[in-house]
Amino acid sequence: MDLLQKINAATSFIQSSCSEQPLIGVVLGSGLGGFTEEMIVEHSINYSDIPHFPVSTVEGHSGKMLIGRMAGKLIVVLSGRFHYYEGYTTSEVVFPIRVMQKMGIKHLLISNAAGGTNTGFKVGDLMVIKDHISFAIVNPLIGKNIDELGIRFPDMSEPYSKKLIEKAHQIAKNEGFELKEGVYFGVTGPSFETRAEYKLIHQFGADAVGMSTVQEVIIAVHAGMQIFAISVITDIGIREEENTISHKDVLDAANASAPKLTSLLKTMIATMELAS
Ligand code: HPA
Repeated sequence: MDLLQKINAATSFIQSSCSEQPLIGVVLGSGLGGFTEEMIVEHSINYSDIPHFPVSTVEGHSGKMLIGRMAGKLIVVLSGRFHYYEGYTTSEVVFPIRVMQKMGIKHLLISNAAGGTNTGFKVGDLMVIKDHISFAIVNPLIGKNIDELGIRFPDMSEPYSKKLIEKAHQIAKNEGFELKEGVYFGVTGPSFETRAEYKLIHQFGADAVGMSTVQEVIIAVHAGMQIFAISVITDIGIREEENTISHKDVLDAANASAPKLTSLLKTMIATMELAS
Protein backbone atom coordinates (compact mmCIF):
# COMPACT_ATOMS: atom_id res chain seq x y z
CA MET A 1 0.00 0.00 0.00
CA ASP A 2 1.43 3.41 -0.88
CA LEU A 3 1.37 6.50 1.32
CA LEU A 4 -1.65 8.05 -0.36
CA GLN A 5 -3.66 4.88 0.13
CA LYS A 6 -2.66 4.78 3.80
CA ILE A 7 -3.67 8.44 4.28
CA ASN A 8 -6.98 7.75 2.55
CA ALA A 9 -7.67 4.66 4.65
CA ALA A 10 -6.95 6.49 7.93
CA THR A 11 -9.07 9.47 6.87
CA SER A 12 -12.02 7.31 5.77
CA PHE A 13 -11.91 5.52 9.11
CA ILE A 14 -12.06 8.82 11.02
CA GLN A 15 -14.75 10.26 8.77
CA SER A 16 -16.89 7.16 9.17
CA SER A 17 -17.50 8.23 12.78
CA CYS A 18 -17.65 11.98 12.14
CA SER A 19 -19.65 13.45 9.28
CA GLU A 20 -18.96 17.12 10.06
CA GLN A 21 -15.93 18.90 8.61
CA PRO A 22 -13.50 20.51 11.08
CA LEU A 23 -11.28 23.25 9.63
CA ILE A 24 -8.96 23.75 12.61
CA GLY A 25 -6.37 21.22 13.75
CA VAL A 26 -4.47 21.36 17.04
CA VAL A 27 -1.30 19.45 17.96
CA LEU A 28 -0.66 19.34 21.69
CA GLY A 29 2.85 19.03 23.07
CA SER A 30 4.20 17.70 26.37
CA GLY A 31 2.06 18.25 29.43
CA LEU A 32 -0.61 20.25 27.64
CA GLY A 33 -3.38 17.71 27.96
CA GLY A 34 -5.46 20.19 30.05
CA PHE A 35 -6.51 21.85 26.81
CA THR A 36 -8.81 18.98 25.99
CA GLU A 37 -10.74 19.47 29.25
CA GLU A 38 -11.91 22.79 27.83
CA MET A 39 -13.42 21.22 24.75
CA ILE A 40 -16.71 19.46 24.25
CA VAL A 41 -15.46 16.16 22.88
CA GLU A 42 -17.78 14.51 20.37
CA HIS A 43 -15.46 11.77 19.16
CA SER A 44 -12.42 10.29 20.87
CA ILE A 45 -10.42 7.91 18.74
CA ASN A 46 -7.40 6.01 20.04
CA TYR A 47 -4.46 6.22 17.66
CA SER A 48 -4.15 2.46 17.92
CA ASP A 49 -7.59 2.11 16.28
CA ILE A 50 -6.81 4.33 13.27
CA PRO A 51 -5.41 2.34 10.34
CA HIS A 52 -1.69 3.04 9.74
CA PHE A 53 -1.38 5.53 12.63
CA PRO A 54 1.85 5.17 14.63
CA VAL A 55 1.41 4.69 18.39
CA SER A 56 2.87 7.20 20.86
CA THR A 57 5.36 5.96 23.46
CA VAL A 58 6.32 9.06 25.48
CA GLU A 59 5.10 9.65 29.02
CA GLY A 60 2.75 12.66 29.07
CA HIS A 61 1.39 11.98 25.57
CA SER A 62 -1.89 10.14 25.62
CA GLY A 63 -2.25 9.14 21.98
CA LYS A 64 -5.79 10.10 20.97
CA MET A 65 -7.48 12.04 18.24
CA LEU A 66 -10.31 14.13 19.62
CA ILE A 67 -12.94 15.80 17.51
CA GLY A 68 -15.24 18.27 19.17
CA ARG A 69 -16.06 21.87 19.85
CA MET A 70 -14.15 24.66 21.43
CA ALA A 71 -15.57 28.17 21.56
CA GLY A 72 -18.31 26.93 19.24
CA LYS A 73 -15.94 25.80 16.49
CA LEU A 74 -15.39 22.22 15.41
CA ILE A 75 -11.75 21.23 15.91
CA VAL A 76 -9.63 18.11 15.64
CA VAL A 77 -6.98 17.66 18.29
CA LEU A 78 -3.98 15.38 18.24
CA SER A 79 -3.38 14.64 21.90
CA GLY A 80 0.03 13.03 21.67
CA ARG A 81 2.48 13.43 18.82
CA PHE A 82 5.21 11.32 17.26
CA HIS A 83 8.85 12.26 17.58
CA TYR A 84 11.72 11.26 15.35
CA TYR A 85 13.73 10.25 18.45
CA GLU A 86 11.21 7.53 19.23
CA GLY A 87 12.45 5.71 16.15
CA TYR A 88 9.63 6.59 13.78
CA THR A 89 10.48 7.43 10.21
CA THR A 90 9.89 11.03 9.14
CA SER A 91 6.90 9.81 7.17
CA GLU A 92 5.39 8.31 10.35
CA VAL A 93 6.11 11.47 12.37
CA VAL A 94 4.09 13.59 9.96
CA PHE A 95 1.42 11.03 9.05
CA PRO A 96 -1.21 12.64 11.34
CA ILE A 97 -0.65 16.01 9.64
CA ARG A 98 -1.22 14.35 6.27
CA VAL A 99 -4.43 12.83 7.59
CA MET A 100 -5.54 16.27 8.79
CA GLN A 101 -4.75 17.61 5.31
CA LYS A 102 -6.94 14.92 3.76
CA MET A 103 -9.68 15.68 6.31
CA GLY A 104 -9.70 19.25 4.99
CA ILE A 105 -7.95 21.02 7.86
CA LYS A 106 -6.93 24.53 6.78
CA HIS A 107 -5.61 26.02 10.03
CA LEU A 108 -3.10 24.32 12.30
CA LEU A 109 -2.24 25.31 15.86
CA ILE A 110 0.82 23.62 17.32
CA SER A 111 2.27 23.67 20.82
CA ASN A 112 5.48 22.29 22.24
CA ALA A 113 7.87 22.44 25.15
CA ALA A 114 11.24 24.02 24.38
CA GLY A 115 14.50 25.03 25.99
CA GLY A 116 15.24 28.74 26.06
CA THR A 117 18.41 29.96 24.33
CA ASN A 118 17.44 33.62 24.64
CA THR A 119 18.94 35.05 27.82
CA GLY A 120 15.87 37.23 28.31
CA PHE A 121 13.59 34.23 28.72
CA LYS A 122 12.52 32.51 31.93
CA VAL A 123 10.95 29.15 32.69
CA GLY A 124 7.21 29.30 32.11
CA ASP A 125 7.33 31.94 29.36
CA LEU A 126 5.23 31.38 26.28
CA MET A 127 7.05 32.06 23.01
CA VAL A 128 5.18 32.49 19.75
CA ILE A 129 7.25 30.93 17.00
CA LYS A 130 7.87 33.49 14.26
CA ASP A 131 10.33 31.34 12.29
CA HIS A 132 12.38 28.19 12.61
CA ILE A 133 15.73 26.65 11.71
CA SER A 134 15.40 23.14 10.32
CA PHE A 135 18.86 22.11 9.20
CA ALA A 136 19.56 19.91 12.23
CA ILE A 137 16.54 17.72 11.54
CA VAL A 138 15.62 15.45 8.65
CA ASN A 139 13.36 17.16 6.13
CA PRO A 140 10.17 15.09 5.89
CA LEU A 141 9.71 15.98 2.21
CA ILE A 142 12.82 14.05 1.20
CA GLY A 143 11.83 11.37 -1.30
CA LYS A 144 9.63 11.35 -4.37
CA ASN A 145 7.21 14.28 -4.22
CA ILE A 146 3.55 13.31 -4.14
CA ASP A 147 2.05 16.02 -6.33
CA GLU A 148 -1.47 15.42 -5.00
CA LEU A 149 -0.20 16.54 -1.57
CA GLY A 150 1.84 19.61 -2.53
CA ILE A 151 4.63 21.01 -4.69
CA ARG A 152 8.24 19.77 -4.89
CA PHE A 153 9.92 22.94 -3.60
CA PRO A 154 7.66 24.72 -1.12
CA ASP A 155 8.37 28.34 -0.27
CA MET A 156 9.35 28.73 3.41
CA SER A 157 9.52 32.52 3.58
CA GLU A 158 6.58 32.74 5.99
CA PRO A 159 5.62 29.37 7.45
CA TYR A 160 3.99 30.99 10.49
CA SER A 161 1.01 33.21 9.79
CA LYS A 162 1.77 36.85 10.61
CA LYS A 163 -1.93 37.42 11.06
CA LEU A 164 -2.22 34.74 13.72
CA ILE A 165 0.96 35.95 15.48
CA GLU A 166 -0.54 39.44 15.67
CA LYS A 167 -3.78 37.99 16.98
CA ALA A 168 -1.90 36.11 19.71
CA HIS A 169 -0.15 39.29 20.85
CA GLN A 170 -3.46 41.13 20.94
CA ILE A 171 -5.04 38.38 23.05
CA ALA A 172 -2.07 38.27 25.46
CA LYS A 173 -2.37 42.04 25.88
CA ASN A 174 -6.10 41.81 26.56
CA GLU A 175 -5.66 38.90 28.97
CA GLY A 176 -2.75 40.63 30.70
CA PHE A 177 0.14 38.23 30.24
CA GLU A 178 3.47 38.58 28.55
CA LEU A 179 4.03 36.77 25.28
CA LYS A 180 7.55 36.34 23.94
CA GLU A 181 8.27 35.84 20.26
CA GLY A 182 11.23 34.10 18.66
CA VAL A 183 12.92 31.61 16.39
CA TYR A 184 12.66 27.87 17.17
CA PHE A 185 15.58 25.60 16.42
CA GLY A 186 14.60 22.00 15.67
CA VAL A 187 16.76 19.10 16.90
CA THR A 188 16.18 15.36 16.86
CA GLY A 189 16.87 14.68 20.56
CA PRO A 190 16.43 12.63 22.65
CA SER A 191 19.48 13.87 24.58
CA PHE A 192 19.18 17.48 25.63
CA GLU A 193 21.81 19.86 24.28
CA THR A 194 25.29 20.26 25.63
CA ARG A 195 26.32 23.69 26.93
CA ALA A 196 28.28 24.27 23.73
CA GLU A 197 25.23 23.34 21.66
CA TYR A 198 22.88 25.71 23.51
CA LYS A 199 25.42 28.49 22.95
CA LEU A 200 25.80 27.68 19.27
CA ILE A 201 22.03 27.51 18.76
CA HIS A 202 21.78 30.94 20.39
CA GLN A 203 24.52 32.25 18.09
CA PHE A 204 22.67 30.87 15.08
CA GLY A 205 19.87 33.27 15.95
CA ALA A 206 17.41 30.94 17.67
CA ASP A 207 15.58 31.77 20.88
CA ALA A 208 14.43 28.26 21.76
CA VAL A 209 15.25 24.67 20.93
CA GLY A 210 13.04 21.61 20.81
CA MET A 211 12.55 18.09 19.49
CA SER A 212 9.26 18.45 17.61
CA THR A 213 7.19 20.81 15.47
CA VAL A 214 9.55 21.61 12.58
CA GLN A 215 8.79 18.47 10.58
CA GLU A 216 5.06 18.94 11.18
CA VAL A 217 5.28 22.56 10.06
CA ILE A 218 7.14 21.70 6.85
CA ILE A 219 4.37 19.24 5.95
CA ALA A 220 1.66 21.73 6.90
CA VAL A 221 3.31 24.34 4.62
CA HIS A 222 3.45 21.73 1.84
CA ALA A 223 -0.25 21.13 2.51
CA GLY A 224 -1.03 24.86 2.25
CA MET A 225 -2.27 25.27 5.83
CA GLN A 226 -2.27 28.49 7.84
CA ILE A 227 0.02 27.78 10.81
CA PHE A 228 0.43 29.09 14.34
CA ALA A 229 2.94 27.54 16.74
CA ILE A 230 3.87 28.30 20.30
CA SER A 231 6.48 27.03 22.77
CA VAL A 232 6.34 26.78 26.53
CA ILE A 233 9.84 27.54 27.74
CA THR A 234 10.57 24.73 30.20
CA ASP A 235 14.29 25.26 30.84
CA ILE A 236 16.95 27.82 30.12
CA GLY A 237 19.75 25.93 28.46
CA ILE A 238 21.84 28.97 27.75
CA ARG A 239 22.50 29.77 31.44
CA GLU A 240 25.31 27.60 32.65
CA GLU A 241 24.31 27.82 36.32
CA GLU A 242 20.82 26.40 35.67
CA ASN A 243 21.04 24.22 32.63
CA THR A 244 20.73 20.75 34.04
CA ILE A 245 17.44 19.38 32.81
CA SER A 246 15.25 16.30 33.07
CA HIS A 247 12.09 15.19 31.30
CA LYS A 248 10.24 15.67 34.60
CA ASP A 249 11.37 19.31 34.77
CA VAL A 250 10.03 19.78 31.24
CA LEU A 251 6.65 18.23 32.08
CA ASP A 252 6.32 20.16 35.37
CA ALA A 253 7.09 23.49 33.70
CA ALA A 254 4.77 22.74 30.77
CA ASN A 255 1.95 21.76 33.14
CA ALA A 256 2.42 24.95 35.17
CA SER A 257 1.97 27.09 32.04
CA ALA A 258 -0.82 24.99 30.55
CA PRO A 259 -3.72 27.16 31.83
CA LYS A 260 -2.21 30.31 30.24
CA LEU A 261 -1.59 28.49 26.97
CA THR A 262 -5.02 26.87 26.95
CA SER A 263 -6.67 30.23 27.48
CA LEU A 264 -4.67 31.77 24.63
CA LEU A 265 -5.44 28.94 22.20
CA LYS A 266 -9.11 28.97 23.13
CA THR A 267 -9.43 32.69 22.41
CA MET A 268 -7.47 32.24 19.18
CA ILE A 269 -9.93 29.57 18.08
CA ALA A 270 -12.90 31.70 19.11
CA THR A 271 -11.75 34.66 17.03
CA MET A 272 -10.02 33.03 14.02
CA GLU A 273 -11.48 33.70 10.60
CA LEU A 274 -11.90 30.38 8.89
CA ALA A 275 -11.17 29.54 5.28
CA SER A 276 -14.33 28.90 3.32
N1 HPA B 1 16.16 21.06 24.39
C1 HPA B 1 15.48 20.33 23.50
N2 HPA B 1 14.21 20.05 23.63
C2 HPA B 1 13.56 20.50 24.70
C3 HPA B 1 14.22 21.24 25.68
C4 HPA B 1 15.59 21.52 25.51
O1 HPA B 1 16.23 22.19 26.36
N3 HPA B 1 13.31 21.54 26.64
C5 HPA B 1 12.12 20.99 26.24
N4 HPA B 1 12.29 20.35 25.07
